[in-house]
Amino acid sequence: MLFPIWLFAPPSITTANQIPDSLEAIERGEYLLIAGGCISCHRGQTEETNEALSGGLALETDFGTFYAPNITPDTETGIGNWQAEDFLAALKHGRTPNGSFFLSCVSLPRLCGYD
Ligand code: HEC
Repeated sequence: MLFPIWLFAPPSITTANQIPDSLEAIERGEYLLIAGGCISCHRGQTEETNEALSGGLALETDFGTFYAPNITPDTETGIGNWQAEDFLAALKHGRTPNGSFFLSCVSLPRLCGYD
């Protein structure tokens, strides 16, 4: 009898995680950033910002145009104010820090041809 409740309940998300900050972990993160192709969408759109993750790339889809956001540690323009849980919830569950869902590539990678 609980099956319908389980079926329609929003999936649980990861909480209470810590992102390690050892040199080894940072190097592993850089490896994953490259292996994951993150820079291909999140890179800056000018010659000066091309190596950074300042975003701006427009992705045109059948559902509208989505812009890759700035994911640098900048606290005003990037995701520098995010907690570890925010980052993990975005990457693992397609959730924004306020709990709503991302609309495009994070939650539906196929939408952006990223699957
Ligand atoms: C195909 C292009 C593409 C690739 C590749 C990509 N992203 Fe994204 N990313 C996006 C778009 C577009 C959004 C905005 C999603 C939305 O508005 O629904 C986004 C959103 C995000 C966000 C949320 C930022 C915010 O301010 O809301 C994070 C964090 C993120 N991506 C990290 C990554 C990481 C880490 C990788 C590599 C593993 C990655 N992305 C690869 C296109 C991409």
